[in-house]
Amino acid sequence: MAVAAAPVSLARSLRLRCLFGARTVHAICSPVIQLHTSRAAMRISQEDFEKAKDQLKLLKEDPGNEVKLKLYALFKQATEGPCSSPKPGMLDFVKKAKWDAWNSLGSLSKDNARQKYVDLVSSLVSSESTSQVKKNAPENKHGYETLQVTTTDNITKIVFNRPGKKNAITTQMYREIIQALEEAATDDSVITVITGNGDYYCSGNDLNNFTNIPSSGLEKMAKDGAVLLEDFVNHFIDFPKPLIAVVNGPAVGISVTLLGLFDIVYATERATFHTPFSELGQSPEGCSSYMFPKIMGLSKANEMLLFNRKLTAEEACAWGLVTEVFPDKAFQKEVWIRLKAYANLPKNSLALSKQLIRGVEKETLHAVNCRECEVLKERWLSDECMNAIMSFFQKKSKL
Ligand code: COA
Repeated sequence: MAVAAAPVSLARSLRLRCLFGARTVHAICSPVIQLHTSRAAMRISQEDFEKAKDQLKLLKEDPGNEVKLKLYALFKQATEGPCSSPKPGMLDFVKKAKWDAWNSLGSLSKDNARQKYVDLVSSLVSSESTSQVKKNAPENKHGYETLQVTTTDNITKIVFNRPGKKNAITTQMYREIIQALEEAATDDSVITVITGNGDYYCSGNDLNNFTNIPSSGLEKMAKDGAVLLEDFVNHFIDFPKPLIAVVNGPAVGISVTLLGLFDIVYATERATFHTPFSELGQSPEGCSSYMFPKIMGLSKANEMLLFNRKLTAEEACAWGLVTEVFPDKAFQKEVWIRLKAYANLPKNSLALSKQLIRGVEKETLHAVNCRECEVLKERWLSDECMNAIMSFFQKKSKL
């Protein structure tokens, strides 16, 4: 039986001999072919049939041997009628599989076979275009409630996703960021980008973290909080690939202090940088007590970390905290063009270079992180901190 009787591309793709073992042939030959027949068998034009043959040649994905056999059988039935050729010998697996498929169509009329052939091709075309759309749209990785995490164009993008709360970081979100960083560290991406959804980059620690006091008491809450924070910051210190912040709006608290651990910080001109720790009876974290003086000099760091000075994007850039500031209108477009180009650079070379640059400081950074968390654990139990948080929520309730 000549394969050439089927459409050319199908014939080419029917690589049955190399794909089938004897047992598989048996499995695919037995079932009676059942095709989608929701439409009543109506006369299908020769033109539709020819069009289906052409569409089949354009399929990018291999539909699999079972479907190819169905297509072969329907094509033969539609063009030659019921199978009348002699049954091939048992050892000629390929010819026998094809003969079985054709023969199983029995006395199906040529018209009906044509209809079923066209239906089958059309279902293959539509399922391929659906799967292409799905492939092109980056999917949010499983299990994240407070983040959007996608990987596309060699970039893993972690988006703070609580825009209604200015992307304030809840306890759950701290944990999810840790998980996202762990996944990004080992996935196929070349660079990792953190940004925010909505008008804010992030408003820092969610102050509700302090109000949901568990039955185990305040001290336990402070202790657990310090352990989580230390682990969280350690994941930034140890992150092995280039880490880039795309600061899409104002940033507050820990979302600012962490910036010293990023490799590049791009900001919209709308962004501001505020670390109101003393206002809140707290103290710096994210290794900022070490990195900020290093980046901007001691006296400027003091203005930010001791006296709550809020920087504009231009100031943050001039002080070295931000790499470059972009006009708000062009921000997303320009930044992502640049990031996509970076993400085409050799992955291992980038990772190793980053690790060389950061490696020297790692031990120091871990020690700083540990110390900052110890101090904060005390601060969270202080009256100064409690009063500041109560006053935030009182102000809110008066609005
Ligand atoms: N913790 C808890 N809730 C926060 C928050 C935070 N860090 N930041 C914002 N929110 C909440 C607000 O309470 C408000 O909630 P609601 O809609 O239920 O009332 C919502 O997010 C929107 O914020 P809102 O204050 O209405 O917006 P704004 O533009 O007027 O002000 C901020 C935005 C960020 C300046 C203001 O919310 C703020 O000062 N937040 C606290 C920032 C902070 O101190 N972070 C900790 C640093 S250590």
